[in-house]
Amino acid sequence: MVKVALKDGVYWVGAVDWNLRDFHGYALPNGTTYNAYLIVDDKIALVDTVKHGFYGEMLARIEEIVDPKDIDYVVSNHVEIDHSGSLPMIMKDAPDAEIYATEKGREGLGDYYDCDWPFNIVKTGDELSLGSKTLSFIEAPMLHWPDSMFTYIREDRILLPNDAFGQHIASVQRFDDELEGAVDLAAEYFANILMPFAPLVLKQLRKIQDLGIEIDIIGPSHGIIWRSHPERIIEAYSEWGQGLTKEKVLVIYDSMWGSTEMMARAILEGVLSEGGVEAGIYHLRKTEWSDIIKEVLDARAVIIGSPTLNGGMFPTVAGFLTYLKGLRPLNKIAGAFESYGWGGGAARDVMEMLHKMRLDVVEPALRVKYRPKEDAITQCKDFGRDIARKVKEGKV
Ligand code: FEO
Repeated sequence: MVKVALKDGVYWVGAVDWNLRDFHGYALPNGTTYNAYLIVDDKIALVDTVKHGFYGEMLARIEEIVDPKDIDYVVSNHVEIDHSGSLPMIMKDAPDAEIYATEKGREGLGDYYDCDWPFNIVKTGDELSLGSKTLSFIEAPMLHWPDSMFTYIREDRILLPNDAFGQHIASVQRFDDELEGAVDLAAEYFANILMPFAPLVLKQLRKIQDLGIEIDIIGPSHGIIWRSHPERIIEAYSEWGQGLTKEKVLVIYDSMWGSTEMMARAILEGVLSEGGVEAGIYHLRKTEWSDIIKEVLDARAVIIGSPTLNGGMFPTVAGFLTYLKGLRPLNKIAGAFESYGWGGGAARDVMEMLHKMRLDVVEPALRVKYRPKEDAITQCKDFGRDIARKVKEGKV
C-alpha cells in the first residue's frame, strides 16, 4: 500500500467505502471515506479509527508504517460508529494503548462498547506530548455529537476536526489539490449534517481564532484533506454558519395527476419573469432530498407544493418537510401551494410546518381546485413573481 503523508510523521491510515450509497438517509452517489491519522514520534498516536468492516484496511495501512502493538495512544474525536467502529479491534492489537476522549466521549464509548479501556479525559486546552510533536485538544460539542472534539498537531499546524469540514466522496485522491469540486461536496455535507448546528459552527470558528490556532492542513474524518487553501473551506463554513443566502428561489413539489406540477412550472415561470434571480425546480420523487437540501443551503426562498391526499399533504412532502425542519434552515422566505379536489388540506399542513420552522412565510398559500385553468396559471405566475421580488428586496 502506498503511504499517504500529510507531513513528516503524520499519515492518513483511513479506509475508502466505495459502495456506500446511503448515510442515514443522505444519498451518497460517490461513497465516502473514513479517515484515521497516525502520528509517529517518540510516542505513536492514532487519531480516530474507521467503521466496523473496514478495520483490515486501516490495519494494513498502519502496518506499512509501524507495528500496531507499538501504538501508545488512540484519540477518539467522536463516538459515532463510522469513527469508533474499529476501536475494539485496535485496542486488542495495541494492548498498551490508552484512549484520549472528552468526558462525553468516554460516556458514549462506554455505552456503545463493552469495554474496560484506560481512558484519559481531556478538555479544551489540554495537551499530549508525543516527543517533538504536541497534540492539543479542542472540544467541539454538536459538531457532530455532544462528545465531538478536534485534535490539533501544534508543531505541524494540522487540524484534525473529525466530522467538521468533511465531504462524502470515495476517491483515489486524498488532497484538495488533486480533486476538483471539493468545496461543492463540502456544501452538500454541511447542508445535510451540520446545518442544524450553524450557530455552533460560528462559535467553534471563533474559538479556533481565539486560541491562536494556525492551520496549514485540515484533515477531516470524511473525504479529501484540505492542504492547498485550507482558508477556503474555513471561509465557506463561516458563510454557511451565518446562513448567508443569495437571490435564489427553489420550487419543491410532488404531484398526483399533474395539476400541482402545472402550478409548480407556472410559479417557476413567474420567478424567472422577474429577472436576476437564480431558480430551481425539484420533484420530490425524482430528486434525492440530500441534493435538494444542498440547494436550500444558500437559497433565499423555498416554495413548497403539494396535492391534497386524504385531507392533508402528500406523504413525500410531509417527509421532506420533516427532514428540512430537523435541519433548522435560517433566513428564508417560504411559500406554499396546493392542488385539491374538494376539501383541501395540503396547504394548511405545509403552512403549519413552514411556521414551525420560523421561516418568513408568505400569506396566504396559493390553492387551486382541480386542474389549473388560464386564470389559475396567471395566479401562479404572479405568486412566483411576487416571491422573487421579495427575494430581490432581501426581505427575510
Ligand atoms: Fe462521521 Fe458523526 O460521524
